[in-house]
This record gives sequence, C-alpha cells and structure tokens, in this order.
Amino acid sequence: MVQLATEVTLRMSNGKEIPALGLGTYIGSSDPTQVKDLVKTAIKAGYRHIDGAWLYGTEKYVGEGIRESIEEGIVTRDQLFVTTKIWPTYWDKPEKSFDKSLSDLGLEYVDLLLQHWPICAKDVDSSTPLPIKEDGKPYYDDPTSDGTGFIEFYRGIEKLHLDNPQKIRSIGVSNYSIMKLEKLIPKVQVLPVVNQIEYHPQLPQKDLVEYCGKYGIIITAYSPVGSNGAPVLKLPLIQQLADKYEVTTNEVANAYHILQGRASLPRSTNLERIKTTIRLPSLTKSELEDLYQIGVENPKRHITNIWGDELGFDWWY
Ligand SMILES: NC(=O)c1ccc[n+]([C@@H]2O[C@H](COP(=O)([O-])OP(=O)(O)OC[C@H]3O[C@@H](n4cnc5c(N)ncnc54)[C@H](OP(=O)(O)O)[C@@H]3O)[C@@H](O)[C@H]2O)c1
Repeated sequence: MVQLATEVTLRMSNGKEIPALGLGTYIGSSDPTQVKDLVKTAIKAGYRHIDGAWLYGTEKYVGEGIRESIEEGIVTRDQLFVTTKIWPTYWDKPEKSFDKSLSDLGLEYVDLLLQHWPICAKDVDSSTPLPIKEDGKPYYDDPTSDGTGFIEFYRGIEKLHLDNPQKIRSIGVSNYSIMKLEKLIPKVQVLPVVNQIEYHPQLPQKDLVEYCGKYGIIITAYSPVGSNGAPVLKLPLIQQLADKYEVTTNEVANAYHILQGRASLPRSTNLERIKTTIRLPSLTKSELEDLYQIGVENPKRHITNIWGDELGFDWWY
C-alpha cells in the first residue's frame, strides 16, 4: 500500500501542523472562476492545504470552494490550512491587503500569512502589482540589495499577527535567501515558521534549506514540477522512479519534498490530475540524493523575474 501524501503533516516551530501537500491557486491568465472547482476537487481528494495570495486574484473562488466543501460536509474549517500573502506594494500597509484577502476568502482567519517577497515596491497605481519604470526597471521604495525596508515590511505583518492572533494563526516569508534571512532574524520577535521558495530537483537549495532548518523554518516548495510545461517531469530519473513505484511523475515530484520534511505546492487546472496526485512513493535516500544531484550538475531556476535579481539567490537567470 502506498502512503498518501495528503495525510502527512509537518510540525512548525510554533507547534502547529502544516499539511505537506498543498494546492497552489495561482493559475496565470486562465479563467479565475474555475478555481472554485479546483479547490473543491482537491479537498474531496484529501488535500487539506490551500496556498493563495492577494496577487493571484483567485481568493474569492478559493473561498467559494472552501465554503461549499464545508457546507457539503466534506471537511470542517479547522481541518483546512489556508495561506495568503502580502504583496510588496502593500509593504507599508499590510492590513489593507490582508483585510481584502480575508474578505474575499470569506473566512474568519487564515492559518498562515506570508510576506510574498522581501521587497518594498512603490504603489504607483493600485491596479498595477508590478510597477515598472520607462527604463524597464521596477519602481522600488527601498533598494533591493542593501535596503532594510523589507524588515519593516515583515514587522508590519508581525504586528498584525500579534494584534490579531486568532485571525492570523502563523506568519512566515517567501522568496527569502540566506542573505535576507540573516538580516531579518535578529530583528524580529516572531520567527517566520515557513519560507516558501522555488524548489525542485533542477534547483539545488541545500544551503538555504540547512540555514532554515537551524531556525525550525519549514520550506514550502513552489513550482514542484518547474511550473509551465512541467519540465521537471521530463527528467528521465523522475520517469524511471514513477515506473518503479507505479505512481505518476507528479507524485514523485511531490515525494522529493515531502519525504525530506518540506511541503509541496503543485497547481493544476486539470481536475483529473488534482485527483490523482495524492500518493507518496517511498523513494530511498539514495534516490533522493540522485534527484538532488540533477540540479547540482545543471542548475535551472524556472520562476525568475526582474524583482529577484539582487535578493541573494543563485542562478537567477
Ligand atoms: N511564493 C511565490 O512567489 C510563488 C511563486 C510561484 C508559485 N507559487 C505557488 O506555488 C504554486 C505552484 O507553482 P507553479 O504554478 O509554478 O507550479 P507547478 O505545479 O510546478 O506547475 C504547474 C504547471 O505544470 C503543469 N503540469 C503539471 N503536471 C503536468 C503533467 N503531468 N503534464 C503536463 N503539464 C503538467 C500544469 O498544467 P495543468 O494546469 O494542465 O495541470 C501547470 O501549467 C502556485 O499556484 C502558487 O500557489 C508561489
């Protein structure tokens, strides 16, 4: 019997549990209304963790999917783990972004609130989440490489959490390199419980994972199959392991994280794929290491944009 990834939880440093398999809800330019059915399908299949953000523009439909699943008796709110994130243009007013997310979700609380990027972007026009100047560079309120505004941004989220612990159960970060964590950690009262980063066998992140481990910060891996086009699933070793364990390549990609104490956050607009991506093959230590070595030999980061350039990450381009 293959174990189910949907049944694994990880303990965060504040003692709370985070389900190891989460459904991503960023679906690009696809019709956002379909997210209701994606969420309902995932919950029916056993997923208990939903990863969202103000930026994704799908939280209204995430909320509808959750509400209908609760009304239909499939799940209770306290069995679900719901994440949202504060976008960099809200760095000096995180409560505005949070209030909008909570109201769109139609929930009384979120389980996890993340700082989406350690960046303070200028809120030039509230309808533009990525403000870009004429020279093609982003508008920042603070320099990305050596500014300290990102710490103020986190501390704004920390204050929101401390003032509203029932509404915001845990807080964390996303897209933090070691360089940024080293600056943040001495300045905070509440340590981030999570760092959400791009992670898959093509992108080696051992130093960052070990650094986070020292502070009990759980890694939640986005783009587990390498995002659009799923390049990770084309790796011959992923396919061989899927054949060996009689699971799908998507399940091998999730197992790469879950078996090593990380959460995996796949997304799909394909209902069948969501339903069938739930098993956890027992890859051996040496298979996990072989997967890791793929990225050591040929590192590839699939999610890059101009924002991440000076944040202390390797292989940004
Ligand atoms: N914190 C951040 O800055 C950040 C950044 C990026 C993402 N995220 C989070 O992480 C989630 C997942 O990241 P991601 O969107 O980059 O995801 P991903 O799960 O690595 O990639 C999803 C893409 O792969 C395709 N795919 C999956 N399995 C496939 C298969 N067997 N064959 C062909 N195509 C396949 C999906 O297509 P189908 O729709 O057809 O299945 C979809 O286009 C997001 O939704 C979001 O919640 C966070």
